[in-house]
Amino acid sequence: MTFARFLRHVGAVGVGLAFLAGSRAGSQETPLAPLALEGDAVRGEVLGFTCLGCHGIIGYRNVSPAYHVPKLGGQSADYLEIALQGYRRGTRRHATMQAQAAMLADQDIADLAAYFASREGEPELGIGRSSAVERTAGLQKSVACVPCHGASGVAGAPQWPNLAGQHASYLRHALEQYRSGARADLLMAPMIGALDDTALDDLAAFYAAQPGLHATEY
Ligand code: HEC
Ligand code: HEC
Repeated sequence: MTFARFLRHVGAVGVGLAFLAGSRAGSQETPLAPLALEGDAVRGEVLGFTCLGCHGIIGYRNVSPAYHVPKLGGQSADYLEIALQGYRRGTRRHATMQAQAAMLADQDIADLAAYFASREGEPELGIGRSSAVERTAGLQKSVACVPCHGASGVAGAPQWPNLAGQHASYLRHALEQYRSGARADLLMAPMIGALDDTALDDLAAFYAAQPGLHATEY
């Protein structure tokens, strides 16, 4: 190898490493935004058929750890797009969902989001048993959450998730993930970091007991 070629080689490796470092940092730091694409709910229904194998069965559970598969009915298209992009780029980790999202182009994500957001249903409670004491404690501890998630878990903007009526075990799992850093989000991380297990239990119990999200059965 000539000296000039050696330099080019080192340069290329350097650029490659800088790119990897940049994309890695970028994937963890850059907040996701809704896609600037028109979603086609009719195409989304065709693409979404496989999704109903889990999201369309009431009471269906993720096995390990065990929690109920989240409801999608009643979520806004913007949040659904952000969630699917998170799995696709790997900042939101879940083996099955990452495998599903890896196959989706931007237009597919927009269409799926349009389809699930268009599914109508009556407001429902989430699955989860809790005591009135827990729910009242959750209400008190939710004061800090109101600016984004609303007084009863109905979000103030379409890029934020609705929590009302989501299954308690899923909410509890999501809160745990933010606290441990397994799910990275610049807005959620500071909200959850200091809360203990009881606070997470109470918050999940409170939101699950508010009428909101609904099932999307076959
Ligand atoms: C094998 C079961 C399974 C299949 C199939 C599946 N999902 Fe999921 N999905 C899950 C589970 C479990 C979660 C919760 C993962 C986590 O903890 O982040 C989830 C989470 C999601 C979320 C995030 C919800 C939220 O409140 O943040 C969206 C959006 C979603 N799925 C959409 C889809 C779409 C669209 C498809 C089809 C292309 C699909 N899923 C297929 C099991 C599944
Ligand atoms: C500054 C705005 C903001 C505040 C305040 C906030 N959140 Fe969030 N929350 C978000 C955003 C944005 C997301 C979606 C982040 C992502 O994509 O992971 C989110 C996601 C969540 C989720 C996951 C929902 C799902 O479907 O996966 C839960 C649960 C949650 N927040 C609970 C809370 C609780 C409890 C509090 C108060 C202690 C709180 N949030 C305060 C903005 C906020």
